Amino acid sequence: MKILYATSEAVPFCKTGGLADVAGSLPSALAEQGAEIAVVLPLYRQVRDRFGAELKFECYDYVDLAWRHSYCGLFSLERDGVTWYFIDNEQYFDRPGLYGYMDDGERFGFFSRAVVRMLPHMRFWPEVIHCNDWQTALVPIYLKDDGVREDRFRSIRTVLTIHNIEYQGRYSRDTLGDLFGLDAGWAADGTIMMDGDVNLLKGAILCADAVNAVSPTYANELKMAYFAHRLDHIMRRCEYKLSGVLNGIDMKLYNPETDPRITSHYSTRDMSGKDADKAELQKLMGLNQEPHTPIVAIVSRLVSHKGLDLICEVLHDMMELPMQLVVLGKGDQKYEEFFHWAADQYPGRMAVRLDYNEALSMSIYSGADLFLMPSKSEPCGLSQMIAMRYGTVPIVRETGGLKDTVQPYEAWRDAGNGFSFRNYASGDMLYVIREAVYLYKDYPDAFDRLRKRAMESDFSWARSARDYLRIYANITGQVWTTAQSQPEEPLEAEAAEEAVPAAEAAAAEMTAPTAEEQPAEGSAPVEEPVPAPAAEAPAEKPARRTARKPAAKKEPAAKKAPAKTAVRKAAARKTAAKEEPEELPVDSAIQEKPAKKTAAKKEKTTKKGPAKTKKEDAAE
Ligand code: GLC
Repeated sequence: MKILYATSEAVPFCKTGGLADVAGSLPSALAEQGAEIAVVLPLYRQVRDRFGAELKFECYDYVDLAWRHSYCGLFSLERDGVTWYFIDNEQYFDRPGLYGYMDDGERFGFFSRAVVRMLPHMRFWPEVIHCNDWQTALVPIYLKDDGVREDRFRSIRTVLTIHNIEYQGRYSRDTLGDLFGLDAGWAADGTIMMDGDVNLLKGAILCADAVNAVSPTYANELKMAYFAHRLDHIMRRCEYKLSGVLNGIDMKLYNPETDPRITSHYSTRDMSGKDADKAELQKLMGLNQEPHTPIVAIVSRLVSHKGLDLICEVLHDMMELPMQLVVLGKGDQKYEEFFHWAADQYPGRMAVRLDYNEALSMSIYSGADLFLMPSKSEPCGLSQMIAMRYGTVPIVRETGGLKDTVQPYEAWRDAGNGFSFRNYASGDMLYVIREAVYLYKDYPDAFDRLRKRAMESDFSWARSARDYLRIYANITGQVWTTAQSQPEEPLEAEAAEEAVPAAEAAAAEMTAPTAEEQPAEGSAPVEEPVPAPAAEAPAEKPARRTARKPAAKKEPAAKKAPAKTAVRKAAARKTAAKEEPEELPVDSAIQEKPAKKTAAKKEKTTKKGPAKTKKEDAAE
């Protein structure tokens, strides 16, 4: 399977947030499972400065964005089985920062256009382009637009991952043609418009073949007005192709046994290093050297959706507990001022650093005992997972990925890997903080067992990579099984059940392809046929996970009729593709998402697409 992953940031090249961590780890996890994967991102100044010597110049071309005709260089670099492509245009990307410029719309419009236009210069023609957030949201839109004229673009399927729906790429109506080079039809049918503005994310949600949020719970939340920043009705409309895939963390990078960034190493077998790290943290932050007082830590951007209002409300009640508090982060002035002021009230017991400091954050993850993250909304959240890996027990609000990664402590059966509360209410938060602090003080053995369970939680990328491969397989009509995915693991959260759409489940259920359905040679390492599932999901209804139980009576997979919706659709498309003339009626080309393997395969070898058709029709 050939995947092109388009992102606006990725570790280790450039980072402003969690997207960079995901884009830095997921591609190699996909490669480990056998996918052919390339990543494409802009060649920012900081990438050129730090990695310039390693970059290989591939070629250059010109990219048209409306009336602009701009130079576009393509550089590459190989790393961990992944090809990294960098799109070069100094006017757009040779700047000190990644975002925050007046012309961000134009910059990422250019980037998205370049991703599509530079495909012929890349190592492979992708079967799937995986886009992330609004910065690459134009890719599925341009593919549809170009697909009207060139068949080869129709062969590419798209996935859109929503890391945070708050950022949608909204621009005034007149940017549609003048900036993004799209014709009026895109606005006339409403695809790309919302509240009178061009809304790139909305357009991509409608155009992509699959959409996913970064946790199952967030995928569900996105259908609610409270979380969706006005896109809830679109998310509900697209529920059939929506799923939630929980992010992972880099388990090798974040490993208390080997991490060179922390003072003393430790593991669940020997935790003494953590005590030393705690003493070190207290020294570093000017806290009283008290080994038996729990340190509660906050490492966060200081912005409102992180739930900081709750902390402001009850900070003094918290500080009445026998605990110390450490805060690291910067952000909104009101929070910075509050924490700065509060730290002065509790010398030796509360320490604040208004900074973004990776080294210090690692000392906190390893030295603290409890990690507070009371977010109002949290698509996935990575820091609670990092904290757990370092034995710092999380206290979270049950939202998004926090709910999916933290199972609340249950004393009666000694279970759970953290603490959580449900309502966005400071009293509820205070209640669990108190519970956590007293568990630490009064029942150290129980706390240690809880801490170990947190450390042993599996947040590796392999599981998420499998989920993504399933999505890719589904939208391309391929069968994809990996050694690791047999036998199938149950999903971790009940919420996952809710969020798994028919499409994804159907992909997992796929029977072996008939000879006709075999994907293009060399396109994917198709393995042995998967056993045919027993339960039959109704064609139109979301298929539940339970339907994946192995068949009581197994038929030889190859003989089994491809009864599942996705298989049926794929087969239908194949037949249709065979019967149809080379040139598709334009409206079906844009509305439907035909697999058109045959045509696609043909196109891969020829450079020119079929005869052009009218743009106006495309807008229908
Ligand atoms: C965004 C989200 C965060 C998520 C990250 C990676 O930054 O706010 O919750 O973990 O993306 O997907």
